[in-house]
Amino acid sequence: MNRTFLASVEKGFFLQIMMTDKLFIFDTTLRDGEQVPGCQLNTIEKIQVAQALENLGVDVIEAGFPVSSPGDFNSVVEISKAVTWPAICALTRAVEKDIDVAAEALKFAKHKRIHTGIGTSPYHIKYKFNSTQDEILERAIACVKYAKKYVEDVEFYCEDAGRTDNVYLARVVEAVIKAGATVVNIPDTTGYCLPSEYGEKIKFLVENVNGIHNAILSTHCHNDLGMATANTIAGIMNGARQAEVTVNGIGERAGNTSLEEVSMILKSHRELAIETHINTQHIYPISRMVSSLMNMPVQPNKAIVGRNAFAHSSGIHQDGVLKNRESYEIIDPKDVGIDDNTIALTARSGRAALKHRLNVLGVDLPQEKLDTVYEGFLQLADRKKDINDDDILLLAGKDRTESQRIKLEYLQVTSGVGIKSVASICLNIAGEKFEAAASGNGPVDAAIKALKQIIRRQMTIQEFLIQAINKGSDDMGKVHMQVEHKGINYYGFSANTDIIAASVEAYIDAINKFVK
Ligand code: KIV
Ligand code: ZN
Repeated sequence: MNRTFLASVEKGFFLQIMMTDKLFIFDTTLRDGEQVPGCQLNTIEKIQVAQALENLGVDVIEAGFPVSSPGDFNSVVEISKAVTWPAICALTRAVEKDIDVAAEALKFAKHKRIHTGIGTSPYHIKYKFNSTQDEILERAIACVKYAKKYVEDVEFYCEDAGRTDNVYLARVVEAVIKAGATVVNIPDTTGYCLPSEYGEKIKFLVENVNGIHNAILSTHCHNDLGMATANTIAGIMNGARQAEVTVNGIGERAGNTSLEEVSMILKSHRELAIETHINTQHIYPISRMVSSLMNMPVQPNKAIVGRNAFAHSSGIHQDGVLKNRESYEIIDPKDVGIDDNTIALTARSGRAALKHRLNVLGVDLPQEKLDTVYEGFLQLADRKKDINDDDILLLAGKDRTESQRIKLEYLQVTSGVGIKSVASICLNIAGEKFEAAASGNGPVDAAIKALKQIIRRQMTIQEFLIQAINKGSDDMGKVHMQVEHKGINYYGFSANTDIIAASVEAYIDAINKFVK
């Protein structure tokens, strides 16, 4: 290679760095996303999601809030061992004990980050902390300095920055960068900001904070008014170079900014000249995986990953797409990993077809688990002719209940119009069988009364939701159940073509969380 060529390659490369900026993707599915009631994952499931996030190409995985529970602590430890490339981040409050515990949880991480911070809005300063702006500023500086004793990479969050006055916010950002923060997170915690307002906030910080170039500004937008993605993009367009997101936009209340939306906006709008490391073909499989493991359905019209996102139903649209896909589609479904040529799964399909479909959906099962799922698949295929992706994922998820202490052995219910419902039930508790029968006001009531004769605990149903997955009388019913025991709510889930059985299984799933 001659020198001129090398120089021009280097110049071209340099020009490219100048022209296309890198955006770091910080995924908080396993921390902010996992805070959703009923979405909690066990450590094995979290590792599965973390490895899928690594394959997807995220830069940072926020793996948990270690001081909050031994489970969270353990998940951060295990994810740190299981993942290589992304930085592993642990959340803390601006409290020394939190930071000590986070540093301990991160000990196996190859790249570690502590994410510490404090509320900066008047609501937080006055009502949450009964403090003053100056005191909060001191605590912010102190916690960054303390975290720096453990790790080089310290991210600071100004909680409720969306409702924090920009001049005070700039003081805090400047001070924490001076104290050593490598990333400063500007959360719109309540999802209140307008895109123009949030963009202005980032611009104000870029223009008014001394030393701003020594740190990366991060967006963290909640979706309470449906503006999380718009706000994130406004932040990026004004200088933020990290975006905090979750798969499917899951998160408390109306959720967080969705990873798939931000990635595909940047990929589609090349003129923004901002790139991520996301391998977009892994988007659909991870979306299905997270939805299935967290029992959190994706709304059909959800951008990018919803069931209808690429379904053209009107005649005019279908005609246009058939003539030229780009008439009505701005994204090729294959770019997000949606495989049009899926093989239909029927009672005659073999294990290989099932395994292939599960792999497309991001689930890789060992052989003996696959055999169990295949058995369930054949039984379902006898009852239901059209087996879809949700059915497959539910079957794959079912074997998670195999290790539970209490299992439903059988259930028989007699019900009808004008007669009282009667149920007999048999439970297998740690290998021993117990039977009971009861009558009740409807089949579910009868079954649960029978169950309560065996498990004599004080527990009440707080929420009971039955959902059909698709359509048709042979469809699977999904049941979400919230059961209160000693003042704590436990969530249970099941899916079955028999909704009475699904209800009882969901109840048992919840009980298994407190009967150890
Ligand atoms: O929404 C928020 O402010 C947060 C912080 C803890 C980062 O999740
Ligand atoms: Zn948040």
